[in-house]
Amino acid sequence: MSAPAPQGAGVFSRLPASRHLLGLERLPREELVDLLDQAARFRELLDGPGIDRDDLRGVSICNAFFESSTRTRVSFELAEQRLGATHVSFASNDSSTAKGETLLDTLRVVQSMRVDLFVVRHPASGAAAYLARHLEAGVVNAGDGCHEHPTQGLLDLLALRRAFAGRFEGRRVAIVGDIAHSRVARSALHGLRTLGATAIVAGPATLMPAGIESLGAQVAPTVEDALRGADAVIALRLQRERMEQGLLASTAEYARVWGVDARRVELLEPGGVVLHPGPMNRGVEIASDVADGPRSLIFEQVTDGVAVRCAVLRRCAAALGRERRA
Ligand code: CP
Repeated sequence: MSAPAPQGAGVFSRLPASRHLLGLERLPREELVDLLDQAARFRELLDGPGIDRDDLRGVSICNAFFESSTRTRVSFELAEQRLGATHVSFASNDSSTAKGETLLDTLRVVQSMRVDLFVVRHPASGAAAYLARHLEAGVVNAGDGCHEHPTQGLLDLLALRRAFAGRFEGRRVAIVGDIAHSRVARSALHGLRTLGATAIVAGPATLMPAGIESLGAQVAPTVEDALRGADAVIALRLQRERMEQGLLASTAEYARVWGVDARRVELLEPGGVVLHPGPMNRGVEIASDVADGPRSLIFEQVTDGVAVRCAVLRRCAAALGRERRA
């Protein structure tokens, strides 16, 4: 690849960055803010003239999805297309891992075709970091097991920053539901802590990981306690694909006790907003009238996802270009 040429004075970062984005944990505040600033610029372009740029001309990207996805995969593909990258995608069921090839060998094969960056979703926590250790290409984590989903965390932060008029300090963000299996919650917790907001988590005891306080979260005993006086709530899906049997009595009971419904949303501060990473299970973790209501940022988050992925891909490609020149 040739190093992407910066376009537009002041649009893009001058900060050093890695060719990988594996998580928001340990991402320095300056770099996090810089990524959000870049994503906000891309969001303005999406809302205005559109994105039709050459930032990633000459960069080859492979989206390797070993778990299902709509939002993440489509938005990465759109970002790659709009920035002029050469890009291909495959899913686990149509790759040779289905014939017994290892994950690493499969990606090494694709890397041999001169791919510069991989966007990887995998059910195993740590898969993205493992690949980053063994590949010369850059690796962007698109969700690894219960560990992190950094671009989801960034788009949540971008939507919140707009709602909070740019200031996270003093803000309270409730995260409700299946915390134990949520890579979205982990990335959000790291990002909120870095930016100075307070995170309050709530959910069934069986879905609340021990030691969650070490990520800076306060644990509320009920959904009402979490939402009362909060500036935002992030409702989480029950991640049954990662859940052992017997952790919940029933979906109906869960919705009654932990669901984010219209009555509970009234406990938020005036102007408080509702987020959900998707996919939503309406009537379970979130009521339909809340998802479609005036406080909901859910579809705004999806648009932010394209902007964030443009910013992340450009950052990783630029870092890779620098590393190869060094
Ligand atoms: N939020 C999220 O990761 O959605 P997808 O599984 O559809 O990508």
